[in-house]
Amino acid sequence: MTALTIRRPDDWHLHLRDGAELAAVLPFSAARFARAIVMPNLKPAVTSTAQALDYRRRVLAALPAGAAFEPLMTLYLTDDTPAAEVERARASGCVFGFKLYPAGATTHSESGVTDIRHIMPVLERMAELGVVLQVHGEVTDPAVDVFEREPRFIERTLAPLVERLPQLRIVFEHITTRAAVNFVLGARAGVAATVTPQHLLMNRNALFAGGIRPHHYCAPVLKAEAERAALLSAVTRGSARFFLGTDSAPHARRAKETACGCAGIFSAHAGIELYAEAFEAAGALDKLEGFAARHGADFYGLPHNAATLTLVREPWKVPDHYPFGADQLVPLRAGERIAWRLAPPTARPHP
Ligand code: DOR
Ligand code: ZN
Repeated sequence: MTALTIRRPDDWHLHLRDGAELAAVLPFSAARFARAIVMPNLKPAVTSTAQALDYRRRVLAALPAGAAFEPLMTLYLTDDTPAAEVERARASGCVFGFKLYPAGATTHSESGVTDIRHIMPVLERMAELGVVLQVHGEVTDPAVDVFEREPRFIERTLAPLVERLPQLRIVFEHITTRAAVNFVLGARAGVAATVTPQHLLMNRNALFAGGIRPHHYCAPVLKAEAERAALLSAVTRGSARFFLGTDSAPHARRAKETACGCAGIFSAHAGIELYAEAFEAAGALDKLEGFAARHGADFYGLPHNAATLTLVREPWKVPDHYPFGADQLVPLRAGERIAWRLAPPTARPHP
């Protein structure tokens, strides 16, 4: 196959940052995705509906002329989030979820939730109103091995929560393990997961290939090959419980190439192309459209996009870096090739 046309996809997990960094990365996502859930882990975090609406305006203002891209906002849960915020969020029409970061789990999670018991009234209100909870699913206990933090989170927090609030709609974000795949497949209705391109294409060897590779470091960290294979097999079987969320997470080169580098992989420059590679490797390009353009919209109760996007099988070399405010941004596959290229957009509606 040399060309692949699919319904225009959405990115259900994206970090856009703010200011000059937002302006530097947004065009990549807007060229590919019709909508994206925009993560709220700014500094300070986006914890109120009013802040989310302001941030949404900044995203819209940073869009290139003629871009068709809708930012879908989510609020950052803290120990102090009031249950009334759920009503405000819902009434705004622009907020599509609340993000649970266990405090200390990842980049800018310091003001996250220290104990899920603190937010039970908020979660109960979300369940009543049908507002989605997006979960960074890792325990923060430093005694737990870093490769085991996702399975332990399922046992200690997620499985009990799913049972305790049977109406709560939950997206288990950026899953990385067979345990997470099995949990999602076996869970009650209303539980789904996003999967990143890096966790479908790379295993933890990529962190140490020829030396330490800070640009392959993200949270949750890359896992062993058997876990990667389980993820790829799950998404390419076509279950509607799995959908696209790049977790594209730009950091300045200076913040990555240092003694204590930040977690985050920037992938928005090839946010659909990388998935095409992964699905092609599994012989399942026919399953890409569901994963990228239908399952997520169905979960969030939003319409499918009418426009299409075409990829051509024409390898291209990724730049070594992109501009990023006063610094540089090193993208996934920097200096290497990607098998699929984005074709120029057409106005043709999906048949
Ligand atoms: O690798 C990551 N980077 N994981 C996250 O959960 C946050 C993200 C970021 O914001 O940089
Ligand atoms: Zn993320």
